[in-house]
Amino acid sequence: MLIEKFKVEDWFNKYEKGAKFDLADTCVESLSLNELQEITKFDFSEIEDVKLNYGNIHGSDRLKNAIISLYKNQSKENITVTHGAIGANYLVISALVNAGDKVVSVVPTYQQHYSIPKAFGADVELFYLNEENNWLPNLEELEKIVGNDTKLICLNNPNNPTGALIPDDMMNSIVDIAKKSDAYILCDEVYRGLNHNKNNFGVSVSDIYEKGISTSSVSKVFSLAGLRLGWIIARDDIINIINLQREYSIISLGILDDFFASVAIENKDKIINRNQSKILEGKDILLNWANNNSMIRLISPNAGTTAFVGYNLNIDSYTLCKKLLDDTGVLLLPGKAMELDGYLRIGYGNNPENLKKALEIFSDWLKINF
Ligand SMILES: Cc1ncc(COP(=O)(O)O)c(C=O)c1O
Repeated sequence: MLIEKFKVEDWFNKYEKGAKFDLADTCVESLSLNELQEITKFDFSEIEDVKLNYGNIHGSDRLKNAIISLYKNQSKENITVTHGAIGANYLVISALVNAGDKVVSVVPTYQQHYSIPKAFGADVELFYLNEENNWLPNLEELEKIVGNDTKLICLNNPNNPTGALIPDDMMNSIVDIAKKSDAYILCDEVYRGLNHNKNNFGVSVSDIYEKGISTSSVSKVFSLAGLRLGWIIARDDIINIINLQREYSIISLGILDDFFASVAIENKDKIINRNQSKILEGKDILLNWANNNSMIRLISPNAGTTAFVGYNLNIDSYTLCKKLLDDTGVLLLPGKAMELDGYLRIGYGNNPENLKKALEIFSDWLKINF
């Protein structure tokens, strides 16, 4: 199967290691095992004698019960666990999409959602979100693009890179549009749990639509990307179809990863409180910076860890980011890597001191160069 380059990953592979200030990253500062222990008080003796066998093939009951607690209407039959949300998205698409199928994907989003179906021979239509609409989908336009033959609609809510959060009533309207063509909705919800208001967990598509499929992981919301632990939530017969594919690429996840993920999700309030305060601190720094910078436009994000900053300069985003990195060591992600030139993705969930410093350096660099 031929597949196009995954532009975001390609950018990271080339430049992340050499960066002094990494503002391209999308995680909230990752937890060490010791920090996880301090927060959750788990007992290391619980795992000392665990036999390192394949463990539970589809995830332990403990893990599944923890995951269920993040949803309204789900049971253990509605879950399968995967290698991160990236593994979850891949499995869903490979289980459902055949050559010739029609797939609609929002853009900007995680590139998997349109490049994998394209590689399988699907007819993929991109549905562009735009700044003028606060990065939310225009439902009239979506209705025009989704036709009777649409098999799958791919969404990412909260959205990477824009940080836009689709309000619950708008999500219900999207479900109504999907219902008319009996389309599946794959909603990548890897940032669900990091809303910036008090209600951290917005609606999940799997809770409101019988053909809604949600993917997520412990990477962002729980700051545990190193566990590589994600999941898919869907109706049990859809999970069965997905599990048929899964047998060929996953036997099981690591038994220790299963344990640490269970512990983290069981302590979701503590970890999410920690992460939310880091995100809000970072967002404040970012908004202040953007307000004082006439070359920059920013729609304030409502969820997640990233913002998509527009700039009013005559330079493409790859060239800008490469020159900025070479001159200063500050790494941003070019909007063009997410199909929209003239924008830059900035992650603000990591160390606030670094963020402040890096944004000052970026401002000074802009003044010198433009
Ligand atoms: C929208 C989105 N989906 C999926 C992933 C992959 O996450 P995971 O670490 O769970 O594989 C990312 C990672 O940045 C992401 O931003």
